[in-house]
Amino acid sequence: MKRKKIAVVGGGQIGGILALLVAQKELGDLVILDIPDKENFIKGKALDIMQMRPNDGVDVALSGNSDFSAMEGSDVVLVTAGMPRKPGMSRDDLLNINLNIIRNVADQVKQHAPNALVIITTNPLDAMVYAFYKLSGLPKAQVVGMAGALDGARFRTFIAMETELSVQDVSCLVMGGHGPSMVPLVRTATVGGVPITDLLSAEQIQAIVKRTQDAGTELVKLYETGSAYFSTASAVIEMAEAYLKDKQRVIPSAALCEGEYGVNGLFLGVPAVIGGTGVERILEFELSSEEREMLDATVAAVSKTVEETGL
Ligand code: LAC
Repeated sequence: MKRKKIAVVGGGQIGGILALLVAQKELGDLVILDIPDKENFIKGKALDIMQMRPNDGVDVALSGNSDFSAMEGSDVVLVTAGMPRKPGMSRDDLLNINLNIIRNVADQVKQHAPNALVIITTNPLDAMVYAFYKLSGLPKAQVVGMAGALDGARFRTFIAMETELSVQDVSCLVMGGHGPSMVPLVRTATVGGVPITDLLSAEQIQAIVKRTQDAGTELVKLYETGSAYFSTASAVIEMAEAYLKDKQRVIPSAALCEGEYGVNGLFLGVPAVIGGTGVERILEFELSSEEREMLDATVAAVSKTVEETGL
């Protein structure tokens, strides 16, 4: 059996952790791609992780390259390239700078890895995944944005912290855009199957929902020079692994909606089935009128950012 191949576009903080996780989980051979100015730096990261392998006992090859043709034949392309947020910036402030980067990455992927599953992390997420889809012309099953996997992990983290119960037993769903309008669905949140509404007060739950919606900004303030990367990379890997191992996982992801939840032509955080062919389908369920209202608000926010791409 031939090893899988994974390309990471952007060798910054998220890219480095992605490379580490790909190696430690032995998911496949990996190439980190970045601009020529960063070539030595990414070659260094790849070589550094190569030298961890004897201790970790994993057989995968890592390399760094500024020639994007090195992504040739990749099974998965993980796109982290782009400017991260600084304190005081919203994700939307990044739109124009990162749109140009996505434009270039879409060209390269179309040429060199047209059969890959492409997972986008670049912000503003919902608009960048839409832009990648439009510019690359790849089928919708092969283009997905990572947002809900991280937002859901944050919601789970805060529920576990507040209930003082194992994070492993917390389950929940966060839908909508990757911004303050995201919709952490309280009704879906349970610990070991017990609804959180039976474990926490309404005030506690409200505070957790708010902290989840602001969690990215909380980290931008703490880091001062960029945004979250450990948890971001971990969430991307969860999606990549579901695809590489055909797990049929249900992971909230920014997937192209064509009628699902009454949304047409937008990438929106929805419970997506991720398996061996990529985004295989979107699971739908009835929303309450209050949930519907929140979803409508997030759809309006995402549409506005998508319009600004002019695509
Ligand atoms: C965050 C950034 C990466 O949510 O969007 O932390």
